[in-house]
Amino acid sequence: MTAASPVFVALDTTEVAIADALAGRLAGSIGGVKLGLEFFCANGAEGVRRVAARGLPMFLDLKLHDIPNTVAGAVRAIAPLAPFCTTLHAGGGGSMIRAARDAAGDAAAALGLARPLLLAVTVLTSLDAEALAATGVGGTVADQVKRLAALAQESGADGVVCSPREAAALRAQCGPGFTLMVPGIRPAWAAADDQKRILTPAEAMAAGADYLVIGRPITAAPDPAAAARRIADELAGG
Ligand code: C5P
Repeated sequence: MTAASPVFVALDTTEVAIADALAGRLAGSIGGVKLGLEFFCANGAEGVRRVAARGLPMFLDLKLHDIPNTVAGAVRAIAPLAPFCTTLHAGGGGSMIRAARDAAGDAAAALGLARPLLLAVTVLTSLDAEALAATGVGGTVADQVKRLAALAQESGADGVVCSPREAAALRAQCGPGFTLMVPGIRPAWAAADDQKRILTPAEAMAAGADYLVIGRPITAAPDPAAAARRIADELAGG
């Protein structure tokens, strides 16, 4: 990606007008925007197109998880939106990930577009060891994250979404070419909100992140563009 910044701003809203206005204000001081399930369910592809028209790289965070044929179809369906990246659950299995990868490549080639990066979600950070055990998965969360990251990599995923505290271990395990997209980021001057295990933007990059997902420290700031510039300056060492 040619973005000036590794920061993708999470536009966690169902309102097209709010997402679009924020994208417009932030263009120039961020690397891209993230639209998630709530936005997609409310506004569909048309809403995504509206925000994408701002020209910012788009992280379309759909966390797909279904049989391979269905996930492949969903990946083909979003290809015309030209997302920079999208997400799928590694727990859907290797066949699902491979089907998604093939579909993404074929659809993008047919449209003359760059193939979107496919980033796997391993263990949701909302699950602790007890909740994970209740789904039938024994062992630690950290081990399951590593296992699913390895499965994702073997199956053709381009990277994973991971917590800042997992970044260094996954970078060591998966090597330099594997994309780490990292939420749970808080500048030293921002409120933690409901995030528990946070790192600053610079700390997360030092731990091996390629891209950072940052929401409220920017979107809820009195001046979102100024907050985004401050983060960009900090990352540039300024
Ligand atoms: O506002 P905040 O910076 O906490 O937003 C973080 C974004 O990253 C939200 O869109 C959230 O859903 C997402 N995310 C996360 N933790 C994960 C995965 C995604 O915070 N493990």
